[in-house]
Amino acid sequence: MATLHADRADLARGDQAIRILTLDNPPVNALSFGFSAQLLAAVEEAEADASVHAVVFTGANGIFSGGADINDFSTEPTPETKTVRDVIAAIERGSKTYVAAIDGNAMGGGLELSLACDYRVATARSKVGLPEIKLGLLPGAGGTQRLPRLIGAQDALQMMLKGETIGAEDAKKKGILDEVVTSDVAGAAAALVARVAASKPKRRVSHLAVSLGNLPPMAAPFVVAQAHKMVPPEENGGYAAHKLIDAVQASFELDFARGLAREARLFEELVRSAPSAALRHIFFAERELGKVPGLAGAQPLEIKKAGVVGAGTMGTGIAITFANAGIPVTVVEPADEQVEKAKQMVFGMYMYQVQKGKLTQEEAWKRGQSIVFTDDYNELADSDLIVEAVFESMDVKKDVFRKLAAIVKPEGILASNTSTLDIDEMASVTGRPDRFVGLHFFAPANIMKLLEIVRGKDTSPQTLATAFKLGKTLRKISVLSANAFGFIGNRMLFDYAREAVSLAEEGVPPHRVDAAMKNFGFAMGPFAMFDLSGVDVFWHIQQARPDMGAGRSKIVDRMYAEKRLGQKTGKGFYRYDKAVGKGREPIPDPEVEALFAQVAAEAGITPRETSDAEIVKRLTFALANAGANLLAEGIALRPGDIDIVYIYGYGFPPHHGGPMWYADEIGVAAVYADIERFRETYGPQWQASPLLGEIARGGRTFKEVAVHA
Ligand code: 3HC
Ligand code: NAI
Repeated sequence: MATLHADRADLARGDQAIRILTLDNPPVNALSFGFSAQLLAAVEEAEADASVHAVVFTGANGIFSGGADINDFSTEPTPETKTVRDVIAAIERGSKTYVAAIDGNAMGGGLELSLACDYRVATARSKVGLPEIKLGLLPGAGGTQRLPRLIGAQDALQMMLKGETIGAEDAKKKGILDEVVTSDVAGAAAALVARVAASKPKRRVSHLAVSLGNLPPMAAPFVVAQAHKMVPPEENGGYAAHKLIDAVQASFELDFARGLAREARLFEELVRSAPSAALRHIFFAERELGKVPGLAGAQPLEIKKAGVVGAGTMGTGIAITFANAGIPVTVVEPADEQVEKAKQMVFGMYMYQVQKGKLTQEEAWKRGQSIVFTDDYNELADSDLIVEAVFESMDVKKDVFRKLAAIVKPEGILASNTSTLDIDEMASVTGRPDRFVGLHFFAPANIMKLLEIVRGKDTSPQTLATAFKLGKTLRKISVLSANAFGFIGNRMLFDYAREAVSLAEEGVPPHRVDAAMKNFGFAMGPFAMFDLSGVDVFWHIQQARPDMGAGRSKIVDRMYAEKRLGQKTGKGFYRYDKAVGKGREPIPDPEVEALFAQVAAEAGITPRETSDAEIVKRLTFALANAGANLLAEGIALRPGDIDIVYIYGYGFPPHHGGPMWYADEIGVAAVYADIERFRETYGPQWQASPLLGEIARGGRTFKEVAVHA
């Protein structure tokens, strides 16, 4: 429950009291409408009390404040609504000395409240930041006007555009904090009040002039123009960034009050914008991920020592991920040349990080040393958890798991990194299916944030809880999937691939399909992605499940036969030239277009005109439709989980919120109508998901779909 503790503390010297206002609104002392009203009343009361000389703000719950309550942004305020802006306005016009005593995070509106104070003291463990941009917003409680005054417009702009969070010592160096202490921050704040009582009791940031750091004031237009150039275009992920730059521009072009009014107007525009709604959805979806039915009370095991089987692309990346999290790891790999390649990859990666200044030589050495390669399975005997990353073949994998089951200590957890195969079938040969789980990392495993955790039919709550805890330790974003061919991400990718290939068969060149998707905001288009993963990967999947993905087209067979496997063979859906972008830059290839035309003619497909908008619809609706099936089958728990998989694993543009959110945004009824039209126009591969149809007919949204128990 939100409570505001108002305590009095006697000054060591002097006869007037300090009012200590402790923010206590668990879990993060968010400055909600209701809590801001309480805070405003407390500030007004302190102002009216002649015996109060100064006000110190502190936070309970191990945090100063996580900022405004993000839930409130979906509520239309009334004239009576109070926000942190009203609290700050009361401080600004007040006569007392205000000090923020920060212990823990001071984020967004929490930091803005501190910036409105005369002084800021923090403990060394504290972190401060204005991360609003990550929610598609700008700091809307004076941050864009006060931070430039405090630390210079250039630094402030950088910090706010990145949504950067910085530690207390750095914040002091920048001039955001006045003092950093090791303990008793409220006491330190009170002592500061006593020290400045006679000389400088008030020092409102609003009264400072804005500087441009080491540039002269006449450079302002240049700074602004540069900033606009550095951020993505407005319609493609940069909507908030451009408005944020406008707000900072106001800080040096207008007086403080008018700058504040400009900031407020821009903030209101952003709160109502579609990109911000999408990014707020992602914020909450990410925090929902760990809420898994049936896990309450399960005690996760600690993973102190890990094992990996297979030192290929994935195994090596997974080993690095463990080493980076401080978990020593033993990698079993029988092929000497693979071990050599893996060692070079580990060495190269750590060297690069040392060169970039991201790691010290000592730390890099320590991490490198914590990865041990061997060809002896027995060395895995005392591992707490082992991830298998051998070839994508059920027989090979079962063979590995039989060996592991015989060697690894009974309480050890066995995991597979398979992209598609049946977890339960693998678990069946281990004699410990309760301690078996899928851990589907994405390539490159040491960089990609996503981890699909696959629950088998016998996976115990403790094993699952351990997997989620491990995901956190490895700094991954973990999403639960049930055991199904391709799990969440790849299962949906099959429909996406099917549609991309259909478009190319109808005569849309692959580079045009990719360009349309990049304009929509994808990190890369589908064909460039297939070339990166390897066309052979899709060919192998097609052998196992010809009903899935592009299986109805002959294109993958033909490309596989011609060794057009993508980047690795220098040609795939594009051509690659070592002299262009280190051999990774896709170059459109008329030969591929001719190949598509040939395959299409053989299949009796006639070319047709397609607009970019239709390309985007076909590909994104294919994802949403497949996602709806996953929800109906209970493979994915929530629409938000699917959105997270696509954003973190497949480069779906965050400002569109993920495929399910995007369908909601457009309106599920409209998506359904288009899918029905697609079926008539493009063929029976388009079958609207029954769940999507049901939601469309009910005029509802995916967001309202219930969690599967
Ligand atoms: N509003 C509402 N709920 C919030 C919140 C906020 N600002 N910040 C965190 N929460 C909730 C989370 O949803 C989560 O809820 P749950 O337990 O029900 O899932 C809970 O608080 C704990 O959050 P985390 O799991 O993220 O806790 P951590 O301890 O890992 O991190 C944190 C704490 C660093 C504060 C992190 O939550 C965070 O970064 N929060 C968002 C900060 C932010 O973006 N602030 C800006 C808000 S917008 C603003 O202030 C506008 C202003 O300029 C006018
Ligand atoms: P890879 O071919 O690069 O590596 C496989 C490695 O396993 C090779 O080094 C091989 O020598 C070794 N190996 C084979 N049999 C072995 C055995 N019995 N014991 C020990 N080592 C053995 O393959 P990659 O790409 O690393 O894939 C591995 C697994 O990860 C597959 O299941 C794949 O589906 C999955 N995966 C692959 C992704 C990718 O993008 N490459 C992404 C996510 C999962």
